[in-house]
Amino acid sequence: MKPLAPITYDYSGLIAPKESPPFVRQTGLVDADLKWLVPRLTAARQEVLDNLAMYKRGAVLPEEMQPLDAAFLDLPERLLGEDRALLDQIVTVGDRLAKEVDRVLVLGIGGSYMGARALMEACCHPYHNQISRQRRGGRPQIFFEGNNVDNDALQGLLDLVEDTDDWGIVVISKSGGTLETAVAFRVFLDALRKGCGDDQEKIRRRVIPITGESGRLRQLANALGCHDIFTIPEGVGGRFSVLSAVGLVPAAVMGLDVSHLLEGAAAMNEQFRTAPPLENPTLDYVGMTRLMETRRGATIRVLSTWGKGLEAVGLWYDQLLSESLGKNGLGATPLTVVNTRDLHSRGQQHQEGRRDKLITNLVVEKTHREWIAIEPSEFDQDQLNSLSGKTLPDILQAAFAGTNQAYADDLRRTATIRLPRLDEGSLGQLFQMLMLATVVEGRLVGINPFGQPGVEAYKRNMNAILRKTS
Ligand code: PA5
Repeated sequence: MKPLAPITYDYSGLIAPKESPPFVRQTGLVDADLKWLVPRLTAARQEVLDNLAMYKRGAVLPEEMQPLDAAFLDLPERLLGEDRALLDQIVTVGDRLAKEVDRVLVLGIGGSYMGARALMEACCHPYHNQISRQRRGGRPQIFFEGNNVDNDALQGLLDLVEDTDDWGIVVISKSGGTLETAVAFRVFLDALRKGCGDDQEKIRRRVIPITGESGRLRQLANALGCHDIFTIPEGVGGRFSVLSAVGLVPAAVMGLDVSHLLEGAAAMNEQFRTAPPLENPTLDYVGMTRLMETRRGATIRVLSTWGKGLEAVGLWYDQLLSESLGKNGLGATPLTVVNTRDLHSRGQQHQEGRRDKLITNLVVEKTHREWIAIEPSEFDQDQLNSLSGKTLPDILQAAFAGTNQAYADDLRRTATIRLPRLDEGSLGQLFQMLMLATVVEGRLVGINPFGQPGVEAYKRNMNAILRKTS
């Protein structure tokens, strides 16, 4: 087992100094807020743990508790323990596909693709698809589709794969009936069959479906005779499925260390279960974001990421929070920004706009690569010689400190999640922390975090429009 450095959540920037004047205290949190919070967080944690126990014993649930997709919670421990054979199979199949093809299309939408994309952007080379196969560690190029209905984008990807047979498909849909994914699968399956000269055996090896126990995709996968079909377990909802085959199979194709990912998540579970509030990153994150929302009007949660590799992690979290808690006229609005890029777009508003935002920084402590420094130059028209020797991490750190100082000077409060490295172990911890936090918050405010009844409305209307006979 690789060593695992813990991720941390630092909320000290949200606490107003004791001796400060009332107008300062009113912008942050004070002792009385924290005191009020602690028993409530402890109770909400217990409720979440009880939910898992209820799910496991198959308890009959009242209507307001349905669905209860609590099975994501101990998925990491199960895959590392009693279900290790499944994890081994995921790695074997991922490695096999990676060896056999040069390109893999991951088809899925929402919870069925955002985690895999986050893993790729965070853990793979930033130009994974552009560098040589050898520099990719012998891994194929990865493309995401079936996550939209964009004619020209689909045609564009077809241009890359048509009339060739060196590619494969990982198609992911829990329900098996999501139109966007189903349409893309139909199109690319046809292209693959043509490219492979309708070689059935090749198709069976090249298509890896990941789906629920029943449904149209399962039937189609059976009809095709696919060799490797993975099941999304009952009780694991789409946006809570990144640590199931949904995220793990694409990660295995990319050559990522899926065990380390799960070990990170299991470590976060352990901390969640045992650490008291105010020393527990998951509970503290819930508590502080709630207090800032309800007592300080911060209804917009800005996840301020410091590094390009974190953007898709932020988008994964945007979906998790929106679909889980955006219900009954409630729910904070998530917003991911990438700095320093977005300091030049949203930065003005975050510095001087409405005081309805809580900024949570997401920071990585160590870079993967050697540091680039500013070198002295005979062309000093840009006046950078005075900064020679400063590295890109120095500049990023100065931007981070300067931005947070500017917010603090204007009594705009910030918190920070720190990842020791941008790797599988840190991401496993972060994914699990944010999934747990979302569920705890749901229990705290009385919103069922599972299910997404609001999304069904557009699907119903779209299908009715499409199937209408005039
Ligand atoms: O979180 C969810 O459940 C959703 O975002 C789903 O993942 C998304 O709608 C895709 O559904 P499916 O996997 O059934 O195609």
